[in-house]
Amino acid sequence: MEGTRRDRSAGAGADAIADWNRTAWNRQVARGNRWTQPVDAAAVAAARRGDFSVVLTPSRPVPRDWFPPLAGLRVLGLASGGGQQMPLLAAAGATVTLHDLSPAQLAQDRAVAEREGLAIRLEEGDMRDLSRYPDGSFDLLFHPCSNSFIPDPQPVWREAFRVLAPGGVLMSGLTQPVRFLFDEKKLERGEFEVRHSLPYSDFVHLSEAERAELQAADEPWCFGHTLEQQLGGQLEAGFVLTALFEDRGRGTGDGALDERIACYLATRAVKPR
Ligand SMILES: C[S@@+](CC[C@H](N)C(=O)[O-])C[C@H]1O[C@@H](n2cnc3c(N)ncnc32)[C@H](O)[C@@H]1O
Repeated sequence: MEGTRRDRSAGAGADAIADWNRTAWNRQVARGNRWTQPVDAAAVAAARRGDFSVVLTPSRPVPRDWFPPLAGLRVLGLASGGGQQMPLLAAAGATVTLHDLSPAQLAQDRAVAEREGLAIRLEEGDMRDLSRYPDGSFDLLFHPCSNSFIPDPQPVWREAFRVLAPGGVLMSGLTQPVRFLFDEKKLERGEFEVRHSLPYSDFVHLSEAERAELQAADEPWCFGHTLEQQLGGQLEAGFVLTALFEDRGRGTGDGALDERIACYLATRAVKPR
């Protein structure tokens, strides 16, 4: 299935997709995209006192009881650049590594770390390849909504399971499949036209002209996954799901759909001991 979608992607194999998405996210930083704006000094100061709020999805904070005690916790931020969550977890006492595709997104975290005197290990790389990390090297993987930038999430679930220590926690932000069904332009105008199907791919479901328009706007390539890929994939990798909540976009471009259904999910999963 994935092979078919890649074959139909006008020469855009997995690496070409990642190449463009790296460029696109670098440019989104320059454009001031919401997901590239670093936290301020007040948020870091509060986090140092143990008072922090981070998101996996657009707006609902992750419940505090999802986190193990943070002091010395080995955290991997997976596709979590932008100077948002990782500086706060570092300020709260965790030992933080950030793995992200975009040098400009990593630079946002570097800037906060230098400004605030925080230690964050920065690693440029694809979320599907965590081979530089030994088995069991983290206690918490924090993975905000970003699987929609890769054609297949399964390699991420597999690698996440491997690099977590037994008892380790995976927190993920996921986009609901329904978010990918509708004609995007009409949705923005409050009209619902079911146009696409799942799994969704910009390369299968959009015309060449529509893709050119997205590239001109520095938008990353997007993919919509089924719940079987998102939740079943975690279970297949060996995780046990322990908690889940839904969230709404509230101004992230979900249009009228946002008023009718929560388009995002956050999951907490544990690697059994
Ligand atoms: C929506 S942002 C998420 C970060 C943000 N701090 C948040 O709260 O959601 C998506 C991130 O995924 C990263 N990304 C996209 N494709 C990736 C890939 N294949 N491997 C690693 N990171 C990727 C982007 O560089 C970007 O920083």
